Amino acid sequence: MKLYIINGPNLNMLGIREPGHYGSTGYSQLIELLREHCASQDVEAIFYQSNHEGDLVDCIQEAYFKGADGIVINPGAYTHTSIAILDAVKSVSLPTVEVHISKVEEREDFRQISYIRAACEKTITGHGIQGYIEAIDYLIEKYGN
Ligand code: DQA
Repeated sequence: MKLYIINGPNLNMLGIREPGHYGSTGYSQLIELLREHCASQDVEAIFYQSNHEGDLVDCIQEAYFKGADGIVINPGAYTHTSIAILDAVKSVSLPTVEVHISKVEEREDFRQISYIRAACEKTITGHGIQGYIEAIDYLIEKYGN
């Protein structure tokens, strides 16, 4: 099974940015943790992070063309603004799980809209970085190996 694990803007700043919301684990530590988890489950994982909307669209399309079985994505602030990312996920029709480290539903009004959610099978919020593991496990259980 092959999964794309995609992170949007400012998620490379994990461990530095607003630890009260996002915790103290750095981005590279997160990737290491997820890499180990995927390896233990015999899942091929491709990791990508970008601060640029179009690059995230390109990566979602790449997941399709490279034969991925699913996508785990935290689009960061583009969650709340990007129809292009919604359309990209719709275009590829791959099972997709939306992850947010923080509990977005308890935060500002502008975080209450998620465009991408309409194209996602599942949304996980507020479970910290464990949310990525839950998303991966969901896709493995439903579509894996
Ligand atoms: C986030 C929540 C978004 O509102 C925010 O813009 C982020 C991170 C989260 O993981 O909780 O960048 O997606």
